[in-house]
Amino acid sequence: MKEITLQTQITACTVDELDAELRQLVEIAKQKTQDAYCPYSHFHVGAAALLNDGTIITGANQENAAYPSGICAERTVLFAANANHPHTPVKALAIACYTNGHFTKQAGTPCGACRQVMLETEHRYGQDMQVVLYGEEGCYVFHKATDLLPLSFVSDNLKG
Ligand code: THU
Repeated sequence: MKEITLQTQITACTVDELDAELRQLVEIAKQKTQDAYCPYSHFHVGAAALLNDGTIITGANQENAAYPSGICAERTVLFAANANHPHTPVKALAIACYTNGHFTKQAGTPCGACRQVMLETEHRYGQDMQVVLYGEEGCYVFHKATDLLPLSFVSDNLKG
């Protein structure tokens, strides 16, 4: 028997410390929280994806009276990017959350299902995707989506 330590290195910074490209992506994700349809949770999530060719795709969470039929902002944006630009890798993804009249103090952390979809996007294009989580008190930058989901289930697992 042995213990294994899993380590992930992420950058914690203010929004002003981000490079111009990521700062813009965060600003767009923040704006996009306004387009969330969240009459049940009142938790507005905005997301923006930057593709390799500079295209920016945006999305927000979309809820449903049949709760499980709703979908998170991250999956809305990644599926839209992948469906409309299937041959263009996603370079970076920014996420912001807004509730009770303000952006969340802590960086909003994606749910498990969204992490799995981020991972698939990264694998599909064979390219790291940066993930920036915005919070009023600071941002977290994950250098690749894999860092959000260690020991994950990927296509290789299907081969047995
Ligand atoms: N939500 C997201 O959009 N992204 C996440 O990563 C976590 C949660 C949404 C789903 C639901 O509409 C609301 O936030 C409350 O869970």
